[in-house]
Amino acid sequence: MSLFRPLLALALCGALLSACHGPALRLARTSPIPMDEHSYAEPNRVRVRHLHLNLTLDFEARRAEGAVRLELVRDDPNAALALDTHALEILSVTGSSGGARLFHLAPPDPVKGSALLIQLQPKDSAVTVRYRTTEGAQAMQWLAPEQTAGGRHPFLFTQGQSILTRSWIPLQDSPGVRVTYEAEIRAPRALTPVMSAEQLGRGEDGAWRFRMPQAIPPYLIALACGELEFREISNRSGVWAEPNVVQAARDELVDTEVMIQHAEALFGPYRWGRYDLIVLPPSFPFGGMENPRLTFATPTILAGDKSLVGLVAHELAHSWSGNLVTNATWRDFWLNEGFTVYFEQRIMEQLYGLERTEMEKQLARAELEREMAELEPWQQVLHVELGARHPDDAFSHVPYEKGALFLRRLEQLVGRDAFDQFLRGWFDGHAFRSVTTADFLAYLERELLASHPDAAKALDLQRWLREPGLPSDAPRVQSTLLAAVDAQIERWKAGTPPAQLDTRGWVTQQWLRLLEALPHELTTEQLTALDRAFGFTASGNSEISCVWLVRAVRADYAPANPRLQSFLMNVGRRKLLKPIYAELAKTPQGLRRAHEIYAQARSRYHAVSTGTLDKLLGWKS
Ligand code: BES
Ligand code: ZN
Repeated sequence: MSLFRPLLALALCGALLSACHGPALRLARTSPIPMDEHSYAEPNRVRVRHLHLNLTLDFEARRAEGAVRLELVRDDPNAALALDTHALEILSVTGSSGGARLFHLAPPDPVKGSALLIQLQPKDSAVTVRYRTTEGAQAMQWLAPEQTAGGRHPFLFTQGQSILTRSWIPLQDSPGVRVTYEAEIRAPRALTPVMSAEQLGRGEDGAWRFRMPQAIPPYLIALACGELEFREISNRSGVWAEPNVVQAARDELVDTEVMIQHAEALFGPYRWGRYDLIVLPPSFPFGGMENPRLTFATPTILAGDKSLVGLVAHELAHSWSGNLVTNATWRDFWLNEGFTVYFEQRIMEQLYGLERTEMEKQLARAELEREMAELEPWQQVLHVELGARHPDDAFSHVPYEKGALFLRRLEQLVGRDAFDQFLRGWFDGHAFRSVTTADFLAYLERELLASHPDAAKALDLQRWLREPGLPSDAPRVQSTLLAAVDAQIERWKAGTPPAQLDTRGWVTQQWLRLLEALPHELTTEQLTALDRAFGFTASGNSEISCVWLVRAVRADYAPANPRLQSFLMNVGRRKLLKPIYAELAKTPQGLRRAHEIYAQARSRYHAVSTGTLDKLLGWKS
């Protein structure tokens, strides 16, 4: 502690200095980086602008070890460098002007982790931190061979969003602090590392090299490593996956190039060079993650009929909304996801037509309304008040669907042409920048509402952005294809047996509607008849399996038990696990069963999923 006293004094005196010279300092940059409650960094004083990562992956010890060199912009020459870390072991710090630097790793906060404070010498333009990750590295999931499709080699992937990058790289882990990066990764011979960057290949020294020359928020730095093969889709797009998955993945995702072309026609050129995807093992906790140049995806989208590729449109859309123009803090998360859902639906409409997107919009709104009924008021707000809470506590359909509904309402008020022009201007005018809700509102007033006074009058911005619930002017969609499903449900209610319902040509979204719109309580006989007619238990479609298994649990439908067990053991995607475990947890014997399965399955899930499920199941390890 005595070592640290001079550092604290330094930090304090820097704070005073910047208070006195605030305006002058601020002049140095066009606009200050907004305060982020989820980071210890003080980027307006010392900012990391580039990092050079040098890591060796040790699959036996399940850790990465090496160093990161952080290049700095020092607006306040007296300030210490403040970094974010979580469960990292810091081995040493050196300054670019030579020699070791004094550092202090503060005690951990459960949400934010530990601040790493580094005393800088006047001539330091960079520091190098040597470190290793620990078992607590929440971003990383190290998979045993049996958790992969091939079953022969281990696998590693990282998931940085929202505040997990700090658990595998010490840096300023705030989406307002954009960085470029380079990396050198050493991995066992049989494995191929890939990153959210340009892949420069394997050097003679055995290290794989990567380069991301465009400034990105730290949550988009990502790494995966396993037995991987690549298949081309077009000259700028392709798929990575394990050898025995890669062909099926390529077939399912073959429309990706056309999606890129539609996206470009809507909102301007794709600015990242290549757009590749990697299909990960099934423990990946999300459907997809928009890591730049390389979307990470769950294998549960490989339904065999392209019915779930809306996810690709979504992650691709993030190449504009999210990666190019980024939420500056996690309070502004709706700027990433609401814009992306809106954009995703526009791409899907171009590619597969209005009928399909109308189904998807109607299903999404129904899910939003169902979920919102159970959320606390603060969670229902777009510009969310997080305070000291973890960004994940606000994760729901609200930033996604309510955000998209808000943009569709704007489109409705000013017309599609004006709205498209406005959005294109937003992306072009803020490219490679991080923005707040206030930035968006200012731009909206200036570039759209000022020239559309009627729209301005009709719109209650306060209601949309800062109040809970769904405003009454939220656009509503009536899908004819889903209405056809509802008509069949009426026939079923009137006594027609399932096998005699007219379900010819039904697509996934219609089956999902059927399963959501059937009465809440079904008898075992009813489930048996439905299963016999439509084969739900045997379905290979992950979304259908999820809703079906929820119903099976509710009615204690025993024939689905083996499928339930294998689903929970093999799928790690939080969105699909949560409803099933939640349904099990509703009764005492269900909860017991959930605990039995969870005890076996938990070590196969990523920290993102166990974080949610531990709470849901009252699990104490
Ligand atoms: N960026 C998100 C995933 C995410 C959000 C990770 C917040 C961590 C914190 C990604 O783009 C996403 O939204 N994925 C969705 C799929 C999409 C089609 C709605 C998912 O994983 O389900
Ligand atoms: Zn998203």
